[in-house]
Amino acid sequence: MRQKVLVTGGMGFIGSNFVRYMLKHHPDTDIIVLDKLTYAGNPANLADLEGEFRFVKGDVADPVVVDALVKECDGIVHFAAETHVDRSIDYAGDFVRTDVYGTFVLLEAARKHGVDRFVHISTDEVYGEAVGRPSLETDELAPKSPYAASKAGADRLAFSYHATYGIPAVISRCANNYGPYQYPEKLIPLFVTNALEGKKLPVYGHGRNVRDWIHVDDHCSAVDAMLQDDGHAGETFNVSAGEERSVLEIADIILRTLGLGDDLIEHVADRPGHVMRHAVDAAKLRKTYGWRPSHDFEESMRRTVQWYVEHPEWWGPIRSGEFRDYYEKQYMLAD
Ligand code: NAD
Ligand code: DAU
Repeated sequence: MRQKVLVTGGMGFIGSNFVRYMLKHHPDTDIIVLDKLTYAGNPANLADLEGEFRFVKGDVADPVVVDALVKECDGIVHFAAETHVDRSIDYAGDFVRTDVYGTFVLLEAARKHGVDRFVHISTDEVYGEAVGRPSLETDELAPKSPYAASKAGADRLAFSYHATYGIPAVISRCANNYGPYQYPEKLIPLFVTNALEGKKLPVYGHGRNVRDWIHVDDHCSAVDAMLQDDGHAGETFNVSAGEERSVLEIADIILRTLGLGDDLIEHVADRPGHVMRHAVDAAKLRKTYGWRPSHDFEESMRRTVQWYVEHPEWWGPIRSGEFRDYYEKQYMLAD
């Protein structure tokens, strides 16, 4: 078991769920969260666990702060990133800086001080379109957005630090996560909170684009398996629950759960470079670690929708802050 783990991006959606998961399943592990608190980082995500982990506000691209923290840790789980595809279309430079250069800074510190494990959180977006079947770890990388391309750069940089310097890095490429504490710019929390405010659900283009959905806790258990293992350095693992759904199917589940009609759906301008299908095959992860997702999709989606219904004190302040300017620009006041 890792004694002290640095979790970058631990105040974001998946990172905060992972810290919660670790404190529950590995209470003896010391957790240090390094997070810049961008618009997506929110201390409220872990407010109930204050005192159970150490928090350092800082930038993964800052070698001084990163060096000091890596020096005292024996494991790193690297979630910190700019993560929203739509924002990457307008501000690609932010993505290159944090996702690529920030990963380089962390890897350099790991090279200098040595770590037992470096779990790099990549994404299934690095494959680009999944044509004919879910993507395999051996498939070529053909990222389509500046976000996905930046993540592909970071993903291969992590691998190169294993191949060149022997850093014990493993790379996780997970599908689309859903669950509590997701910033409401992303599809599911955006549609739920819009519906709760009586607003339209803006479906890009025809809405038949497919994503592969997994509950965030199932992603966390997969990352934990990679973190605790000492083998398979340099390898990549897809993470998926095999639940492919289109945007319109997701909208339908949300509206049904809320008891609302599909008149709230509004087709708006498509996302440039919109990937038709992302899906990955997680057979390697299942075989290597005996990992299995434990969340039933329909039931967990209903519970996720219900979580947002019950926590307006979490998303209300977000939606009235930075998010409002973003939303008005992105959707051109579509509603
Ligand atoms: P998020 O946007 O909710 O959170 C990102 C976190 O990183 C925030 O807390 C933010 O403050 C922090 N951060 C951003 N730039 C930073 C910097 N320069 N220094 C330090 N902290 C910084 O993202 P998420 O959805 O939780 O995604 C986490 C990771 O998982 C990312 O690497 C993402 O690419 C990957 N991923 C996400 C999904 C998904 O469906 N959300 C799926 C697969 C992989
Ligand atoms: O596949 C993993 C990736 O999933 C992660 O690496 C990313 O960080 C994460 O943001 C997510 O990317 P997507 O682009 O798939 O997620 P998003 O929620 O932005 O969009 C999901 C689908 O919903 C996609 O087909 C676009 C569509 N969509 C999205 C929004 C925000 C809409 O139709 N309307 C919208 O308003």
